[in-house]
Amino acid sequence: MQIQLIITLSLHVLSSVFWAGSSFTLARTGGAGGEQLFRPQMVAAVVTILTGAYLGHSVHAGMFGTAEQILAVGALAALVAAGVQGAIGGRAVRSLRNGKADEADEADARSRIATAQRVAALLLAVTAVCMGAARYA
Ligand code: HEM
Repeated sequence: MQIQLIITLSLHVLSSVFWAGSSFTLARTGGAGGEQLFRPQMVAAVVTILTGAYLGHSVHAGMFGTAEQILAVGALAALVAAGVQGAIGGRAVRSLRNGKADEADEADARSRIATAQRVAALLLAVTAVCMGAARYA
């Protein structure tokens, strides 16, 4: 059981580091490279959410004290971040990939990707703080 938790927590931390780290980077590069990173980011988000749900179910089941409330705020912020990246960023990435975008369309798509990444980066920073703080609450 312990080894299962260690493996799940490791996967959770690794995928969330990539998810949040790539969001911070894309927020600073104005969305450059957003098409290449869209899929890996969404895969990392899914792995983070699934492993987080497993950890919540195995370590915090049936409790809703201060630690769980802080974790819930962090989890909610992460879910909104994934939604923003998937919806706004996803639409912009598709419009870049369909190849019909002229220069103005491309600039608009990049700016939408950057906005989605900035919002997600902010939310994921809140999540990271909550995840770290919950243990000591
Ligand atoms: C819906 C998404 C998420 C859920 C449901 C979730 C849930 C959890 C749970 C239940 C734990 C275990 C706490 C414990 O051991 O008592 C945890 C740990 C952790 N999470 Fe998340 N998490 C999510 C997203 C994230 C994201 C996006 C990040 C990073 C930005 C993150 C970073 C961490 C870290 C670093 C730990 C280890 C904290 C520690 O052991 O002190 N999590 N998470």
